[in-house]
Amino acid sequence: MPSLSPLQFTLRSKRDCFLDAEAVLEPLVVDSEQTVGSLYLPQVLQVAVNAEWKRRQFESRLAEVLCLPLLSSDSAVRVVCLVGRGDKNVFSNSACRLIGARVYRSLQSLRISRLTVHPDFLAQMEDSVVGLQAFAEGMRLASYRFILFKNNNKSESKHSILEEVIVPYSGSAMKRRFERALQRAEIFSTATATARDLVNTPSMDMHPKRLMEIARDLAVSGSGIRCRVYDRAEMERLGMHASLSVAQGSQHEPFFVHLSYRPPRSVKSRKKIALIGKAITFDSGGLNLKPGESMNDMKIDMAGSATVLGLFQALPQLQPPVEIHGLFIAAENMPGGSAYRPGDVVRVYDGTTVEVGNTDAEGRLTLADALSYTAKRIKPDAMVDLATLTGAVIIALGSDVTGVLGTDSKLITALRTAAEDAGEYVWQLPMHASYRDLLKSKIADIKNVGGRPAGAITAAQFLERFTQRVPWAHLDIAGPCYAERETRPDLPVGGTGWGVRTLLRYIEQL
Ligand code: BES
Ligand code: ZN
Ligand code: ZN
Repeated sequence: MPSLSPLQFTLRSKRDCFLDAEAVLEPLVVDSEQTVGSLYLPQVLQVAVNAEWKRRQFESRLAEVLCLPLLSSDSAVRVVCLVGRGDKNVFSNSACRLIGARVYRSLQSLRISRLTVHPDFLAQMEDSVVGLQAFAEGMRLASYRFILFKNNNKSESKHSILEEVIVPYSGSAMKRRFERALQRAEIFSTATATARDLVNTPSMDMHPKRLMEIARDLAVSGSGIRCRVYDRAEMERLGMHASLSVAQGSQHEPFFVHLSYRPPRSVKSRKKIALIGKAITFDSGGLNLKPGESMNDMKIDMAGSATVLGLFQALPQLQPPVEIHGLFIAAENMPGGSAYRPGDVVRVYDGTTVEVGNTDAEGRLTLADALSYTAKRIKPDAMVDLATLTGAVIIALGSDVTGVLGTDSKLITALRTAAEDAGEYVWQLPMHASYRDLLKSKIADIKNVGGRPAGAITAAQFLERFTQRVPWAHLDIAGPCYAERETRPDLPVGGTGWGVRTLLRYIEQL
């Protein structure tokens, strides 16, 4: 399924890495006379390339990429890709990822099928193993295109021209570490692409039942994954009335899905972690109907669950020594004669009564059931929810940054570090104590809305009520789960799969 172009990474010993090179990627070395140092090119071409990058005002800023076609028969190499080194002279992990993505795009447009990475580029990475993984991730993620619904999808896919990347190594130890890095890059980016596909698929196809089926299909024998599905009647018996209220206006039946992964018996599992995703397959707002413009992209309101599913897809290959639970309650939020109403009082799994101040604050109602179920029944060491929860977080942080809030500073720090490694952005918002009063209800235990000011914070404080003292963090991904415009080539327009790589890294660091 995942809409990635096939891209083969081949390891070759340093000595023969340049055989049949078609394009070479190398850092630009500028000495005092402003010339390129060690280009893998005949002398005559070096001069030409030197003149050209200056003419094009290439400034050698960190991760700046310039791919120059060489119109000469003096060399078999047809393109040289210069990479800026900035003033630090080392390539950080995130620079490597960006370089990978930029190079991929440039070579596609130059119709180049094979790229050779110059050993100098790897040598100048902060850490060549981690850097190589980031570089390969960047290339793969830039190749993502969602063309499932395009009629001319065959001719579109012809555009994936770059097929092979040659990576040089020296010594068998390095070879093994590079192999692993490349393998991990493939697993991480495929999982991300899966999440992107789920988010990009329209709600008419990605309805609650479909989302449940995708989870169920992950539980094949030997994968270490199990999947329990609860339908409406079973949810009723469990007491998940808040979620059932959200779902009752829709033609689609809701499902509560509980995935679990256990490491192979030979590995002792160290910790138990739960990941909970918001899974509203379409959010019309319900009777508090959203205005047209705000409704357009609301197929993305299941992005939290898409991230959980993408991540679970990667687990059988990565086999982390951690017990991982993935939970979501899939439902559609629609208006209609049977829809829940503003003013209704609904009962959450843990017994808490909630006054519905606004039917558009539906995600927190489903999460209340899922979080309290997780805390009471699974009792994990930590739980993290991912949710396209509020428009307010976009007002606070814009569309590139995820808001993180929670009850456990260690957990939050670990998530922030993991996000940094993954090249994803998070920023912590405060659980300011006095704002909790905004959720007070006159007729129930709590209200599901706290007003417009600090909307992302009061939403988190609503969720906090259902965490039963289990260390918990909440990731409000309403902004970065979806790219409305392209800000970087590894994040094409549409679903981004935000959090898949952050959480995989978080799990690995446990
Ligand atoms: N799914 C939306 C939040 C959202 C908005 C996600 C924009 C992605 C982009 C959520 O269910 C919602 O509607 N929240 C309301 C809460 C309000 C009624 C308290 C909001 O943010 O306006
Ligand atoms: Zn809503
Ligand atoms: Zn929503």
